[in-house]
Amino acid sequence: MALKLRKLSYALGAEVCDFNVAAPMSEAQFGEIYQAFLDNGILLFRDQDITREQHIEFSRRFGELDKHDSLPRDRHPNYPELLLVTNEPNADGTPSNSRYTGRSWHSDMSFTPVPSLGSLLKSWTVPEVGGDTLFANMTLAYDTLSDGMKKLIAGLHGIQLAGTRKINHAPSGLERLAEQKKLNPPIAQPVVRTHPETGRKALYLGDKVKRFDGMTEEESQPLIKFLNAHATRPEFLYRHQWRKNDILVWDNRCTMHQALGDFDETQRRHMERTTVLGTPSGYVVAEG
Ligand code: SIN
Repeated sequence: MALKLRKLSYALGAEVCDFNVAAPMSEAQFGEIYQAFLDNGILLFRDQDITREQHIEFSRRFGELDKHDSLPRDRHPNYPELLLVTNEPNADGTPSNSRYTGRSWHSDMSFTPVPSLGSLLKSWTVPEVGGDTLFANMTLAYDTLSDGMKKLIAGLHGIQLAGTRKINHAPSGLERLAEQKKLNPPIAQPVVRTHPETGRKALYLGDKVKRFDGMTEEESQPLIKFLNAHATRPEFLYRHQWRKNDILVWDNRCTMHQALGDFDETQRRHMERTTVLGTPSGYVVAEG
């Protein structure tokens, strides 16, 4: 049976309507889902009242899952394939370390030598309003640059740094930041990446990049600022308003995203993410 797709925005995204990700699924059926994922960059599945095991099982259809060794403090204690993004306080009452995860433009795991293919985020608890996530279509962003700009950025590598997000300044937050930086040395990633499956070029940048390899921060910043501002023009975006039990899948090779702090932080927002491993990319550099 053909998938029922509904476009989410002009730039990217589609909802797969009336679909249960935990139901038995043939290879052919998953093939249609995967093609829709490649075509739209983001897929939304609403009303997925599923278990953690089912979330992981569905995610495995997309590829091998990351065990989150680069972010050990944020993974679920019993399921290393699940990364917590939560403002639920720790058992001892201290603030959650992952409450600010994703609060700047990024593509998942860009600061590692194996950036992610895609991520599947499930919403367990959402605030009354807000707690939205913004997505940008980086293929559109690349395609709409001038030929001159495409030529200029063709060989550039942006140095991606771990731990650039807003942090929890409590001692545990500072320890976590130091650990992230130690585990993930600065890594230079191409500013333009060719999607291994669609063959299309996409910008690969975001707020984790402060400078280009071989250039100073002062030299790099004007171009980085221009490219990030260009990529996040409203016409290239989709803003996701979460409902409980959404599963949102995005392609990290051609989109970037940012979790917004547009909600009452006394209310709970609890999300869990699987991260599908991509292909090796980039090279480690001595200094950020
Ligand atoms: C993430 O960056 O993976 C988290 C996004 C979100 O919590 O909305």
